[in-house]
Amino acid sequence: MRGKRTQLRRATHADVERLVDWHADPDVARYWDDETFTSVEMAARIARADVDAWIVETNDDDPIGYLQVHPDGLDMFLVPSARGRGLGPDAARAMAEHLLASGSHRRVTVDPYEWNEPAIRAWRRAGFAEVSRGHAPDDDHLAPWVLMEYRSEC
Ligand SMILES: CC(C)(COP(=O)(O)OP(=O)(O)OC[C@H]1O[C@@H](n2cnc3c(N)ncnc32)[C@H](O)[C@@H]1OP(=O)(O)O)[C@@H](O)C(=O)NCCC(=O)NCCS
Repeated sequence: MRGKRTQLRRATHADVERLVDWHADPDVARYWDDETFTSVEMAARIARADVDAWIVETNDDDPIGYLQVHPDGLDMFLVPSARGRGLGPDAARAMAEHLLASGSHRRVTVDPYEWNEPAIRAWRRAGFAEVSRGHAPDDDHLAPWVLMEYRSEC
């Protein structure tokens, strides 16, 4: 799948060590509830039935991040060196358009923490609009979070 400046491909078993290494970076883990994973855990994660795991790449096949699609929407991180250049919004927009066009999702949401203002701005750049904020911590969130929904270009 292609955005304008990024492409996405399914994560495979060959990506397990790459993903373990990415999550071990504190500048990735801090955005992922400080979770890190062993190789065995990661292999199980990318094989989950209800979550599709994708690798974000630049247009010249350089892996720069991870995006996962769950029944409500998506989660994503880029490695620190790839951030701040608009690549994340490009990949998120491509995936959101694909999910809506394929009919697998009726709506596509993201759920950033309120403290993560740069991510909230990035999601806005991708085409997500804020629906509500102040959601209380729950099974999936350690802190108050914001609900945002993708507004299709079509
Ligand atoms: C959120 C994320 C996917 C957005 O992708 P991106 O390609 O960086 O998006 P943008 O280029 O639009 O930049 C987003 C903001 O992050 C800032 N930023 C964050 N880390 C940065 C870094 N290491 N280098 C440069 N800019 C960075 C950008 O300056 C920008 O802030 P601004 O709105 O004040 O200009 C990416 O920044 C990321 O992986 N962040 C950490 C993980 C995360 O927060 N995931 C989302 C959880 S809901």
